[in-house]
Amino acid sequence: MENSAPSKATPRDVGIVGTGQYASAFANRLLTAGYSVTLGSRRPEHPHPFLFGDPEKLAIDEIRVTSLEDCVRGNDVIIVALHVDHFESTFTPEMGRLCRGKVLIDVSNRGSSGSEKNARTKPTSNAQLLASLVPEARVVKAFNSISAYVMENDVTAGGTRAVPVAGDDILARATVCALARDMGFEPQENGSLANAWRMEEAVLRAFPEWTLATVVALVVFVFWFLFAVSRFYLASSNIKWDQLPLKILNKVFGATSLTLLSLTYFPSTFATLFQVAYGTKYRGFPGWLDTWLKSRKQLGLLAYFLICFHVVISTLILSPTYMRSWFPAIGAIVRIPANMTGNVVVPLEPAWMTWIGELSLLVGIAAFALMSLLAVTSLPSVARSLNWAEWRLIHSRLGYVMLTLAMTHVYVMGVPKWMKTGFPLVFFQVKFLSIVLPSVVIFCKLILLLPCVDGYVDRIRKGWERKKPAGKQDLTGV
Ligand SMILES: NC(=O)c1ccc[n+]([C@@H]2O[C@H](COP(=O)([O-])OP(=O)(O)OC[C@H]3O[C@@H](n4cnc5c(N)ncnc54)[C@H](OP(=O)(O)O)[C@@H]3O)[C@@H](O)[C@H]2O)c1
Ligand code: HEM
Repeated sequence: MENSAPSKATPRDVGIVGTGQYASAFANRLLTAGYSVTLGSRRPEHPHPFLFGDPEKLAIDEIRVTSLEDCVRGNDVIIVALHVDHFESTFTPEMGRLCRGKVLIDVSNRGSSGSEKNARTKPTSNAQLLASLVPEARVVKAFNSISAYVMENDVTAGGTRAVPVAGDDILARATVCALARDMGFEPQENGSLANAWRMEEAVLRAFPEWTLATVVALVVFVFWFLFAVSRFYLASSNIKWDQLPLKILNKVFGATSLTLLSLTYFPSTFATLFQVAYGTKYRGFPGWLDTWLKSRKQLGLLAYFLICFHVVISTLILSPTYMRSWFPAIGAIVRIPANMTGNVVVPLEPAWMTWIGELSLLVGIAAFALMSLLAVTSLPSVARSLNWAEWRLIHSRLGYVMLTLAMTHVYVMGVPKWMKTGFPLVFFQVKFLSIVLPSVVIFCKLILLLPCVDGYVDRIRKGWERKKPAGKQDLTGV
């Protein structure tokens, strides 16, 4: 555990109201950070199972357990480690008076049972409820996103280090930020106590930003699956059902990933078109576009996840049996004399891959390598190390190069077949259909890159507006 010296601005004594799982984990962490801790309990004389159950886990000797009142009286910083249901019975008017001027840290979350569940529908947060019970205290919301496990164990064991901190009193917020920093966390100023509602809401749903992208990926996957099954089993039966798990699903993984990649890069084209249509960058995008723009990272990562299946399966099935057109059999005419008896051994020529197969794979591998780079650089820890220019180079320019390579991978293997198939039958091929959307995306990008269009968009991005509000001067100089 990181163990920096406690900051001078933070009082060295901290009180914790409650002796449950979270209180004991918090106490442990504070002790390790060099603080002295007092726990306040309704029954200080009776050890709580969490507090005294595992002497190895808690340095009992170093922690005082007092009554709730003494705990509040003796400390200027108090962590309220109670369930919201117990706020009203604990913070009576008398307790409220004892809390005058003190920093009260509300760590509570809304649960999924009883009155805590009901609290979900209430417009006020737990922290605001606490503040209303102790109006003379300085209530700060913090730590609710940190689990007792992460609190108790070294943060490198998993979980987040980020600790959003919200409160109406700036000095109280600063005290809590310093405390969090001393405990090895990364405090993040989160404004006033009104933001506590969002902090409590944020921990109730797992991966909320992934919902839309996951639903889109599922819909696209099901579409390609049904299309491939109807194409290869209902319309023709040249591939056996035995080949569904690898041969056919491999096509579905490739096509789904290509579609998701296109959906990752398409919204920025729409955003540019809206800016051109509005003649300004200061007008907001429609809600649907805003939501789509915010889902780009998740769509791209899901595309990467699926292409990993495609790459592994492709590598496993890369053989003359599965990829007949890439390994043409070299025929030889063998004449067997009529009077010959016994077995005839005909040596087979090794089948080499055609240039179409080799080139298509090379381009596919290059696309996969770039996709891996994009995926790695979207990890928060890596992304933080990139400056704006580096981020733009990788996620915009290299992203389009990657999409072009992925598309070329399919074009190279598809064009010779499409020339044989001809229209309109070509529309019934996974390869052909999967290439339509990425081709549109790249085509639109090329149009936007034309100097006359690019120059105009660049002016808008620098702040130029087509229609200026009355009295506003053009100061951009462009
Ligand atoms: N556990 C976690 O991972 C976690 C993570 C983030 C936030 N939190 C939040 O931390 C708070 C405490 O969670 P916890 O897991 O520590 O709960 P807990 O283990 O159930 O402990 C709650 C404590 O509240 C006190 N208490 C129980 N009944 C009470 C009553 N009727 N009136 C007044 N006090 C009562 C008890 O202390 P005494 O008997 O000594 O009075 C008890 O130890 C909750 O708001 C929770 O949302 C927990
Ligand atoms: C970003 C990377 C890639 C994308 C988006 C992609 C996408 C696609 C798509 C859409 C198809 C056409 C599916 C069909 O109708 O047959 C395909 C086929 C294929 N790809 Fe990729 N691919 C990528 C990378 C790779 C890599 C790295 C390999 C090799 C390891 C590979 C090997 C193959 C093979 C062998 C086929 C033919 C599958 C078949 O006909 O059954 N691909 N790919």
